[in-house]
This record gives sequence, C-alpha cells and structure tokens, in this order.
Amino acid sequence: MAFEKNILCIGAGYVGGPTMAMIAYKCPQYKVTVVDINPERIIQWNSSELPVYEPGLDEIVRVARGKNLFFSTQIDKGIKESDIIFVSVNTPTKTFGTGAGMAADLQYWEKTARHIREAATSNKIIVEKSTLPVKTALAMERILKAGKNGACFEVLSNPEFLAEGTAVRDLEDPDRVLIGSNETASGLKAREELVKIYANWVPEERIITSNIWSSELSKLVANAFLAQRISSINSITPLCEKTDASISEVARAVGLDSRVGDKFLKAGIGFGGSCFKKDILNLVYLCRCYHLDTVADYWEGVVKINEYQKERFVLNMLNAMFNTLAGKRVCLFGFAFKADTGDTRESPAIFIATRLLEEKAELVITDPKALDNARKNLDGLDGKILYFEDPYEASVNCDAIAVMTEWGIYKDLDYPKIYRSMTNPAFIFDGRNILDHRRLFEIGFNVFSIGKPPMTHF
Ligand SMILES: NC(=O)c1ccc[n+]([C@@H]2O[C@H](COP(=O)([O-])OP(=O)(O)OC[C@H]3O[C@@H](n4cnc5c(N)ncnc54)[C@H](O)[C@@H]3O)[C@@H](O)[C@H]2O)c1
Repeated sequence: MAFEKNILCIGAGYVGGPTMAMIAYKCPQYKVTVVDINPERIIQWNSSELPVYEPGLDEIVRVARGKNLFFSTQIDKGIKESDIIFVSVNTPTKTFGTGAGMAADLQYWEKTARHIREAATSNKIIVEKSTLPVKTALAMERILKAGKNGACFEVLSNPEFLAEGTAVRDLEDPDRVLIGSNETASGLKAREELVKIYANWVPEERIITSNIWSSELSKLVANAFLAQRISSINSITPLCEKTDASISEVARAVGLDSRVGDKFLKAGIGFGGSCFKKDILNLVYLCRCYHLDTVADYWEGVVKINEYQKERFVLNMLNAMFNTLAGKRVCLFGFAFKADTGDTRESPAIFIATRLLEEKAELVITDPKALDNARKNLDGLDGKILYFEDPYEASVNCDAIAVMTEWGIYKDLDYPKIYRSMTNPAFIFDGRNILDHRRLFEIGFNVFSIGKPPMTHF
C-alpha cells in the first residue's frame, strides 16, 4: 500500500515513542518511522517489553507496529524518505560551562539539525517536539539553511503537553495541540499540513496556532505554572505542621475556589520528572539573559521550595527517629517520580535515598515499575541497599516506611501484617499523603505525613 505521507521522528524516548504510536494508530494512511541513535531502545520498541511504561501504550503499538509504525536505527534513510520530521531528542539541563545547571543543553538538538541538513535531499517540514528555549527555531533555520543539497526546510514548533503516566489518554484526548509557525506563506502552508495530521482525531477547536515564538515559550511557561502550584501548596506545609492545621483541609478550601481549582494542590515531598525543574531553570536562565532578574528570582523560588521540601522530609525523619538513622532500616515505598510510570528522572526519591544513606541508614526499595531505574540512579553510592518488587518482603525488619510515590497499591496493603513484620517502634512517613493515617496509627504505627500533625504513641 502506498502511504499518503512519510513521517519521521528522531528520538524514541518518552515523548517520541508514544506520540508517534498515537499518530500511526489514528492515521493508517501515513507511514510513521521512529529512529534513535540508541540501538537498545529501538530493540525494545520492537519487542514485547517496551522501553517506557504507559497504561494503554502496548495496545496501540501492537495494533500499528509493522503496519504503518516502524522503529529503526537507520536515521539517514529515514531522513531521506520523509516529508515531515519531528525532532524529539532530549534537551536536558546543561551541566558545564556558561549556564551550567540552568540553561538547556542543546547539543543533541543541534547535532540532529546538522544530521537532517546533511542527509536530506528534498524539501521537508521540521517539527520541534522537544521543549526548547524561545528562539531556538531561529538557530535551527540558520543551521538548515547552510546545507548544500538544495533542500528547503520550514521549521514548526509543536510542543508536547503529555504527562507521563497518562500519556496515551493525553495524546488521544488532548486539552489542546499547539502549532507555531513563521507567519510567512510557506510557514502558514507548513502549519496547515501539521494541523491536517492532528485533525484526524483532535477536534478542530482544540488545535490552536500561533507564531513560532509564542509556541516555544508557551511550553516553558505551562510547566512553570504547573510546578508553581505544587511549590505554592508545599510552601504552606511547614506552617501547617507548626500550627496544627491540616494541609489537605487548607488545599480543599483553597481549591474549591473555582478561580483557583483543585488540580496540582496535593502536598508532598515535591515534584520530580524530567521536565519541571529543567524547564523552570531554563525559563529563569532566559529571564536572566534578558536582565529580568526580579522575574528570574520569582520563578527560581518555585524550584527552591521544591529542594527545601525534600530536605525537610529527611530532617523530619531524622528528628522523629530520635536523631539517628545510623544502622536503621528504611523502606522506600515507590521510587518513580509519580505513579503509573517507571520514570525516575529527577524523582525526589533519589535525593531522599541519597540523604538517608549519608545518615547511614540501610535502604530497602520497592516499586512496581521503577526498580531497574532506581538501581541505575543509586549505583555507586556508599551504603546498603536492597531491592524487592513485593512491598511485604521489602518491609520485613524495617524500622520505617517512607512513601515516595503515590502508587494506588500502597493504599490497600495489609498494614497489620506489615506492622507485625517490622521492628518496633515502627514509623510511617507518608511523603504523598495517600494513606489512611488514623487507621495506621490504630494499628500501632507512629505516623508522620506532610503538612499535618504527627500521630505518635510516645
Ligand atoms: N518526558 C515528558 O514527560 C515530556 C513531556 C513533554 C515534553 N518533553 C520534552 O520532549 C523532549 C524529549 O523528552 P523525552 O522524555 O522523550 O527524552 P528521552 O531522553 O526519553 O528521549 C530522547 C531520545 O532521543 C535520542 N537522541 C538523542 N540525540 C539523538 C540524535 N542525535 N539522533 C537520534 N536520536 C537521538 C536519545 O537516544 C533518546 O532515546 C525533551 O525536550 C523534553 O523536555 C518531555
């Protein structure tokens, strides 16, 4: 069968894989190929064990793979054969030189642009899927224009708003799809081509278009606003703990105001994931580059509250457990940065595990999906760490349980059984406020949550 269009995606990660799987699933008339420089990732995408865990993803990959969805390491071939190229490579925070720790590291992005320029022999639409600092498309255009093959490129911005754990739902039924372009005749024509792809399943009113700079900037600002809400509610938790107020009650009262709304007002040990911190720091860095220091300080505060919240959790544990954790066994319930994903990038659990090891605690880590990543994250750290998939096995002989991830399974465990298998006195630190604290207290646990008075038997 001849396909209507050849779509290529460079970067087969958490965004590239699911996004392209959805396009292929919804548009059988297009051939979708996903390429990556990492051959292992491609092998996994072609196997029954996909490299990312997302509810519902296996199903759509199974339907489309081999029909109009292909995963490959042949990047040059893919570039040559494609009409539209999505670029979904990683853009982590820079770790060296100017802007280290804040600015986006654009080396993978730039290498990809050069690669496209060298391999392309016909005109292409290039779609920025990665999250990038505003004005990156300009740099991309300059690199692409320097090509010698006579091909013309039109660059679009189409940031991805999916959240890990709900990626398939978000892709199938997005709040909005944003497409930014140059407002020239060729820019508008390219924009229409991309609108046409999404219009196969997304209602027209939810496909919004803008100039390319607004589109690039909107993604950074959207993540900064979401993270800001988490830091705002977390900033109130120490005050609740000092005044016997309950953060859940405060959040409920605040969130019921329809102008505020209740989403992203769940207090906890802080946000993680590959995007919030890096994108806010990216925004802060941009503001500093434009000498907008007051604005930069404001948004940097969102990240600072997040760091403060993680450190505070460890200090509360130390304090509650008689000021020493040395030789005590602490079981971490969950390691992923949130439920329903195996992703541990920037997970608060990494910081907390590292700090607990510094205090000479022994760690037992359990998580239904993230143990392999946890092993990699903690590789090389001094101290004793055990890993168990089963939370019952993990908690045996532990002094404390600390909930790191809001996995639903932790709500319904047989806690009397767990209590009996633990050392006495037994502590639970609910870093996600998901457990039934009164019940745990009645079982015998000393219960510490976030932003609520502790319940202890002392
Ligand atoms: N993870 C999320 O929830 C999320 C959501 C929205 C947007 N984003 C953005 O999307 C982008 C990708 O994020 P991700 O989480 O998918 O990253 P990821 O690290 O999971 O995947 C990136 C992939 O790109 C590949 N790659 C790097 N350089 C390459 C090159 N030159 N040629 C071919 N492949 C190359 C890597 O091997 C990797 O497999 C980032 O800019 C991120 O900020 C992420």
